[in-house]
Parts: sequence; C-alpha cells; structure tokens
Amino acid sequence: MMRLDKLLGNLKYGSRSDIKDAVKDGRVTVDGIVISDPGLDVNPETSMIAFDGEPVFYRKWVYLMMNKPKGVVSANEDSIHPTAVGLLQHPYDRFDVSICGRLDLDTEGLLVLTNDGDVLHRIISPKAEVFKTYEVELKSPLHDYSQLETGVRIKDGKEQYYITLPAQVEPTGERTCRIRISEGKFHQVKRMIEAIGNEVVGLRRTAIGGLTLDPTLAPGAYREMDYEEVLRAIG
Ligand code: URA
Repeated sequence: MMRLDKLLGNLKYGSRSDIKDAVKDGRVTVDGIVISDPGLDVNPETSMIAFDGEPVFYRKWVYLMMNKPKGVVSANEDSIHPTAVGLLQHPYDRFDVSICGRLDLDTEGLLVLTNDGDVLHRIISPKAEVFKTYEVELKSPLHDYSQLETGVRIKDGKEQYYITLPAQVEPTGERTCRIRISEGKFHQVKRMIEAIGNEVVGLRRTAIGGLTLDPTLAPGAYREMDYEEVLRAIG
C-alpha cells in the first residue's frame, strides 16, 4: 500500500500540491470512484487508478531494452545530441531510469535502462564480471589478436594506463570480429583495437551477459523486459 499523492508524485504527475489540487478537483479515480483524499492508501498492484480518465501505469521497477542508434548519447540530458532517455515516451518517460553501461555516441546496439539500482549495479560493477558482446568492424584485416586475449595496455577515462582483463575474440570475417569483455572502461573496445595497431570503424553491442538484443527492435526502438530477461543480463 502507498499514499496516492506519493504514488502520483513518483510518477511525475506534479508536485505534492499540484496533486492535492488535482485530487480536490475530482481528476483522480481509484477503481472508478472519484477520490477526495490525496493521502488515501492505495494498492497500485491491484487497484485501477486513473488521472483525468487515463489509467495510471504503475511499476515499482521498470526494465527496458533499447536498440540505441548512432548519434544518440547514452545519457539523461545533453545540450547537443538527442539522448537515449529522451527517446522514451509515455508511460516510460515517467520513470527515473539510469543506463546500465553507456555506449559511445557512434556505437549502436543494446542498452538496458532501469530505475532498479540493484540491477544497475549488478550489470555495471566490474566485480560482477558480466560479459558484454560487441560486433566490431575494423579498418584493416584482423591478424594477430592474441594480445587481446591476454590483456593490452590502454588509457582509461582518466588517462591512466590500465591493463585490460582477458577478452574473448572471435573473427567473423576478414575485417570483422566479435569481442566479449567484462569491463567497461571509456572507449574500451576502440582503445583495445588501437592497442593492436588497428581501428574500429563500426561498433554494435549485441548482448549483456546472456541477454541478447531483440532483433525486432529497430534503431531507436525499445521495449519493456520481464524479470527473466533481466536475470539473463545479470547471470
Ligand atoms: N567500447 C567502446 O569503445 N565504445 C563503446 O561504446 C562500448 C565499448
């Protein structure tokens, strides 16, 4: 059970006082009954709450999978580019989601967004060792990549040298490969490929742990995941 005004506030229907006014004005119903007490205890799992006649979409936790297009920033806000969080539309734009492992502006593919801090942590914490899979397009043919499988020296986001943990590398063509890494340093795949004298010209994340990007999602599209899918991402 939770207070109606808290529930609507969490879902960004307005400030406490806006919601109080809306309730007093008869704009909120619970199971079809107009409510006058903003502090009413409701069970959003079982009651049908409506605001201005529109059903209120309630989730405690929301888990979304997005196919991030190129040119979209993995952020909540940005002054120049469109953001992944900004692509979310009603009702998901009512949730304060974070991105579980960002992708560069020019990288495409699987993004997971959630308001569940525990899941976020379990996906991005290096200790959790969740492998992320990337399909990589290279500038030059891939020759010796054994160094990637042992560890290469790259600069991290703070320009400090860092030895990468072993990556799993699988050539998929003359100038393409699949790389799995359990870390997420700044520009990590690009910097690892640079460290072996090559260059990334295309990068797409296709999996986080055992969670693979839904092939029916066009670039920019997203969908809610059920908890079983979430568990695949956190192993
Ligand atoms: N590695 C990169 O270099 N960029 C990404 O976006 C993800 C991994």
